[in-house]
Amino acid sequence: MSGNLPSRLGVLVSGNGTNLQAIIDRIEAGDISAEIACVVSDKSDAFALTRAARHGIPAVVHENIGFPERRAYDAATVEILRSHKVDLIILAGFMKILTDVMVSAFPNAIMNIHPALLPSFRGLHAQQQAIDYGVRYSGCTVHFVDCGTDTGPIILQSVVPVEQDDTEATLSARIQMAEHQTFAAAIKLVVEGKIRVIGRKVRISA
Ligand code: GAR
Repeated sequence: MSGNLPSRLGVLVSGNGTNLQAIIDRIEAGDISAEIACVVSDKSDAFALTRAARHGIPAVVHENIGFPERRAYDAATVEILRSHKVDLIILAGFMKILTDVMVSAFPNAIMNIHPALLPSFRGLHAQQQAIDYGVRYSGCTVHFVDCGTDTGPIILQSVVPVEQDDTEATLSARIQMAEHQTFAAAIKLVVEGKIRVIGRKVRISA
């Protein structure tokens, strides 16, 4: 990351928002020196919106309705984020693949959490994919977003065991506990300027 350190987060969500909550809690505890400038949800009924409201965080419902194509939707998202002076974007359970419009507007400044150990089990239902494959361990990955699906430079990963009788729900719940710690830790590294991206590798300084 070059230039000024990022401090204004734009958090994109689609659902429950437990990762959003974990980030809010770490910021309010003074552990992450940043502010959530806005929450953007592509779903009007996302519980994440309620979480934002409870903490007085500006929130925008931005549904993909009436846009001629995905790139136009992303261009409008960029406008929303810029209007809130966002300099670091957090995909916290945002269930859309970003187009080049978003990725090129915020190079190496978009972070995603994925519920598997990438590069295994990219895309949807990563937890069920891990169960079906029969792996003994899965986990979560925080990575910068590039134009591929779950392919960008990896910042942090955490390993979670897969139990023999796991369902998608039980494994998801176990992975989410790791997600909350891992995502916050990765965001803290980025806002403290401890991350350098070299090609597809991420170097972390002490
Ligand atoms: C999280 O488990 C996250 O890993 C996953 O959505 C969930 C959102 O939970 N993201 C993806 O699958 C993205 N491909 P949350 O709304 O409670 O934070």
